[in-house]
Amino acid sequence: MNSPNSPAPSGRLSSIMQEDRLFPPSAEFSKRARIQSMEDYRRIYADAMEHPEKFWDNLAKLLPWTTPYTRVLDWQPPCASWFVGGRTNASAACLDQHVAAGRGDKRAMVWVGEPIGERRELTYRELLAEVCMCAGGLVKLGIKAGDVVSIYMPMTPELVIAMLACARIGAVHSVIFGGFSSEAIADRNEDAQAVAVITADGGWRRGSQLPLKKNVDDALVRSPSVKHVIVLKRTGQPVSMTPGRDIWWHDLVADMPDSMAPVAMDSEAPLFILYTSGSTGKPKGIEHTTAGYLLWAKTTAEWVFDLRDDDLFWCTADCGWITGHSYVTYGPLAAGTSILIYEGAPNAPNEGRFWDIVEQEKPTIFYTAPTAIRSFMKWGMSHIENRDLSSLRLLGTVGEGINPEAWIWYHEVIGGKRCPIVDTWWQTETGGIMMSPLPGATPTKPGSCTMPLPGVVPEIVDSEGNPVDTGEGGWLVMKQPWPGMLRGIWGDQERYRETYWSKVPGKYLAGDNARQDADGYYWIMGRIDDVLNVAGHRLSTIEIESALVSHPCVAEAAAVGRPHDVKGEAVAVFVTLRSGEAGEVLKETLRKHVRHQIGALAVPDDIHFASVLPKTRSGKIMRRLLRDIAAGRETVGDTTTLEDYTVLAKLRDDE
Ligand code: WTA
Repeated sequence: MNSPNSPAPSGRLSSIMQEDRLFPPSAEFSKRARIQSMEDYRRIYADAMEHPEKFWDNLAKLLPWTTPYTRVLDWQPPCASWFVGGRTNASAACLDQHVAAGRGDKRAMVWVGEPIGERRELTYRELLAEVCMCAGGLVKLGIKAGDVVSIYMPMTPELVIAMLACARIGAVHSVIFGGFSSEAIADRNEDAQAVAVITADGGWRRGSQLPLKKNVDDALVRSPSVKHVIVLKRTGQPVSMTPGRDIWWHDLVADMPDSMAPVAMDSEAPLFILYTSGSTGKPKGIEHTTAGYLLWAKTTAEWVFDLRDDDLFWCTADCGWITGHSYVTYGPLAAGTSILIYEGAPNAPNEGRFWDIVEQEKPTIFYTAPTAIRSFMKWGMSHIENRDLSSLRLLGTVGEGINPEAWIWYHEVIGGKRCPIVDTWWQTETGGIMMSPLPGATPTKPGSCTMPLPGVVPEIVDSEGNPVDTGEGGWLVMKQPWPGMLRGIWGDQERYRETYWSKVPGKYLAGDNARQDADGYYWIMGRIDDVLNVAGHRLSTIEIESALVSHPCVAEAAAVGRPHDVKGEAVAVFVTLRSGEAGEVLKETLRKHVRHQIGALAVPDDIHFASVLPKTRSGKIMRRLLRDIAAGRETVGDTTTLEDYTVLAKLRDDE
C-alpha cells in the first residue's frame, strides 16, 4: 500500500478540504418528522448507548415473532447473535403482518418498465399472493430451508418476489447483478453451492436485450450444484430450455395456491448472501441473517427516510447490490411503505426518463448514487427544466462520497431547495445505513454524512488503534456490534476475522478513511487502499476530486497516486468533461483551480482527460485500475466487477 519513500504507516491523513455551508431542515419539514430536533436525536442516541439491549429489545418487539427470543445479544467477538432463540420470517414481516393489520389494499409496489407504457401496481395483498405462489413453486422443486438460490434477473417485480419467496421458505438468496458475466455467475454458484438459479430470458437495457438466460447457460457448464433453472419470460427473446432442468416461471407458479404459511426461521438463520468485491482476490460472499438484518433495514429506513404512510419511496438501486436489498426490498416493505421500481437505464429512451417518472408517478422520496447525480449534471438542464418535481420531499445519496458541488446541484435543481438531503454512509457488510443526517433534525453540510445513527458507535483511529485528533483523518472503525452487521464471509470465517477484526483488534474495520470535524460531523475520505501519499502527506481521494468537480468544465474526476522518485507519490487525476476543450490550456486552468481550492500539495502532476472512467456496476470508480494506467503498468487483479469492459482499452486510447 505504501510506496518505498513513505513514512511509517500511521493511518493518519491530512485534511485539506474546508466546507462551511450549513443547511438546517426547514421548520415545516421538522414539524412533521419522526425525529424533529437534535435534542431528540441526542436523547435517542444516548438511550441506545447506555442501554443497548433494552433499546433493541423495544424495537425488535415490533417484528412478527412465532417464537420469542430469550436473549437480545450474545456477543463473542467477532461473532454476534441477536435475538437468540427467536423465530420469525422476513417475508411475513414484509407482507403478512401488513395484510393482517388491514393494510392489504395499500400499494406495495409501483413498477415502471423500461419500454414506454409498461407499468404494474401490486397491493400488499397481491404481492403476498405472488410470493406465496413462487414459494410454492420452489418447494415443488424440492428446494428447502438452508438451500442457496442464485437470482440473476432484471429489475422486475418478480425479482423482489423471488427474494421474498426464498425468504418465505428459508432458502438463502444470492442475488447476482444482471450486468455480470457468466464467469461471475459461475464463481458465485460454486462458492455458495447454489441448487437453483432464478433468471429471465432477457432484460431491457437502454433499448437492447441482455442475454440473461444465455449467460446462465454458459455459467452452468461450471456449476454442477445447480439442479433447477427458473426462467421468467420478460423480453420474449428466443432461449434454449434444457428439459428436466429448466422451467418457465409461469409454468411453475400456474397451479400454485396463493397462500402458504411462512417457515419460522431462527433469528440467526442466513437470509441472504451478497457477493462484493474485495480490493484483491475473489469476491466475498457477505452473509446476513434474518432478524437482526431485518430490524436494522426497517428501523434505519424509518429513521433516515422519515417514512410516512402516504410516501412513495423511489430507491433507484438494482437489487443486485445491497441498497436494493435493504432500501428497495426489506427496509421499506417491512415498514409498510409503497415502493417505486424502475426497470431500466436513466437515459432510456432519453436523459429525461427519471424526471418523466417523477412527474408521472409522484414519488415523495428519491434515493440514488452520486455517480448518477454527476451524470444528470453532465446531461444538462434541458432534460429537467420542464418537469414537475414538486412531489419530492426528501432526497438521499449512497455509494460514494458526494462532492459538495454535486450536493448543491442536487439540492437546488432536483430538490428545489426545499428537500433535505440525506448522505448515507454504509456498506454491504453493515446491512443498512450507519451514518446519515436525520432529515427533520440534522443541519447538513454538503459532503458530510454527518452523524452516526443510534446504536452505531464509530471511532477514527490510526494504525495502532489510537484515536486521532479532531480534524485529522484516520481509519473508521465501529466499537460496538449492531443488529444489521454481517455475520461472516460465506464459507470463510478466517477471512472474516482477518479482513474486519484483526487490524484494529476487537473493532470492526470498515476499510474507509474518515475525519470528524469540530462540530462532531463525520467526513468519509475514501477507501484506505486509495490513499495518496505525497511527500509524506497522506491525502484523501475525495478531497482532490471534489476540488476538480467544483470547476464548471469538469463532470467527474478520479485521483490516484503514481510512483514518484522524490515525492513518493505524485498526484495523477483522470477527468471527464462537461464542457471545454481537453488540452494544455485547460490542464493549466485546472491546476490553478486545485491550488486555489485546496492548496499546492494537492496540485495534480498528471492530468488525463478521459471519455469515461472505469466503474463498478454500482457506480464506484475503480481507482485501483487507474493506478495501473497512471503508472504505465499492465492491469493485474480482478476486473470482473467492471461495469463496462471496454473502458480500460478506451482509457489507454485516450492517452
Ligand atoms: C463507499 C454501499 C462516502 C464507502 C451501501 C463504503 C460512501 C463503500 C458512502 C461501501 C457515503 C458508501 N459517503 N462513501 N455516503 N456510502 N460509500 O458495499 O467507501 O457497495 O465503504 O455499499 O462505499 O460500498 P457497498
